[in-house]
Amino acid sequence: MRSEFQLGITMKVSVGHLAIIMDGNGRWARLRGLPRTAGHKAGLNAVQGVMRACEPHQIRHLTLFAFSSENWRRPRKEVNLLMDLFVTTIKKELAELVKKNICLKFIGDIDAFELRLKQRIRQAEYETANNDGLHLNIAVNYGGRWDITQAAKKMAQRVQDGELQVDDINTDTFAGFLCLNEIPYPDLLIRTGGESRISNFLIWQLAYSELYFTDCLWPDFNADELAKAVDWYAGRQRRFGETPEQVSLGTGKSHA
Ligand code: FPP
Repeated sequence: MRSEFQLGITMKVSVGHLAIIMDGNGRWARLRGLPRTAGHKAGLNAVQGVMRACEPHQIRHLTLFAFSSENWRRPRKEVNLLMDLFVTTIKKELAELVKKNICLKFIGDIDAFELRLKQRIRQAEYETANNDGLHLNIAVNYGGRWDITQAAKKMAQRVQDGELQVDDINTDTFAGFLCLNEIPYPDLLIRTGGESRISNFLIWQLAYSELYFTDCLWPDFNADELAKAVDWYAGRQRRFGETPEQVSLGTGKSHA
């Protein structure tokens, strides 16, 4: 499940999987005397910019936190706007996503959404399923604790059905029930908006990811900001529990 990386100081590191917590839309709008909803619309433009900027960095998987399990607590008007934005964006952009060879997938408790959004989501996933360009994962009504709980439930069901033995459960089998189980774990997490926390995003999958926090508000995040984050990542040494020497010399188990 590990991403591609090579070793030592001279290593070439690539961000195969980038995850982003897009924070700061509301503050961006407030700074301009605009309603929070204007911040989310501007945030959507930033999403499109970052998607375009992924290719030069060879980012294959991009996972965006668009709506958390906790975001339902926001004012009704804002939640409605976000739902409308998701529906209209999927409708408007689907043909373009197909053309650009982007594979779109949604993760989270989709069942909680209204029918028209669920239908759009399934349609978009279906129409882009065979694309092999950028894999764009959008987390909606997603929470890391929800993810772990739903995985535990599915696994328990398999045990109850006699299809899985308790003794066969380990971190790998468990991970197989989590969202994003078919792709490498994120190499890099970016959180914009100045907060330094994970906020219940991909809490299992981010265990060994590099975490990059920036004050940049999400609507201002662009190709230059992405390049800064990727440069920062390139200077990190990923050790996966090994010593710096093992990593530099390539003698550790994570390189076997
Ligand atoms: C957090 O900023 C942002 C969100 C909860 C929504 C993010 C959604 C988008 C950028 C639209 C993306 C749409 C698609 C289809 C991917 P905040 O509102 O918490 O900002 P604040 O911390 O400044 O208040």
